[in-house]
Amino acid sequence: MKSQPRLNRERAKELLAEVDLLVSRAQQPAALRKSVVQLLNLEPTYNWVGLYLLKGGELRIDSWKGPAPTTHTSIPLGKGICGFAAKSGRTEIVSDVSKDPRYLQCFASTRSEITVPILHEGKVVAEIDIDGDVANAHSSVDREFLEALAAKISKFCV
Ligand code: SME
Repeated sequence: MKSQPRLNRERAKELLAEVDLLVSRAQQPAALRKSVVQLLNLEPTYNWVGLYLLKGGELRIDSWKGPAPTTHTSIPLGKGICGFAAKSGRTEIVSDVSKDPRYLQCFASTRSEITVPILHEGKVVAEIDIDGDVANAHSSVDREFLEALAAKISKFCV
């Protein structure tokens, strides 16, 4: 079985500092969102990274980085793990996607997923969706890291 190092707190701290730098230099919201997605995809357990914006009651893909595009370019609220998290406003960590009936498959390689809503002024405006190629790729470290990141970039997602 493949094994990949999970994100640790030290690395999460470094990444948040890099995000701070990107935010301080940001000129265009769309470019900032793209840079953040690219940065995240460098992590070994972040094999596909997408940022969706919530528009017209559905999640619409804005920026992504990974081996292939997703077929799920728009996801209604409540559908899939992404739509579920966007509706609840709470992070979802799925350690084995094959066991989650909500899961909408994009890539045959995906084994686990973390989906983090981005809130602005108390409302979900966007979401980060990350697929991992090994089961159980993400932990509470990823949750805390990505929620902190979401707070830093939320104003660029409206
Ligand atoms: N798996 C997601 C759909 C998005 S793709 O993974 C990019 C879901 O269940 O909502």
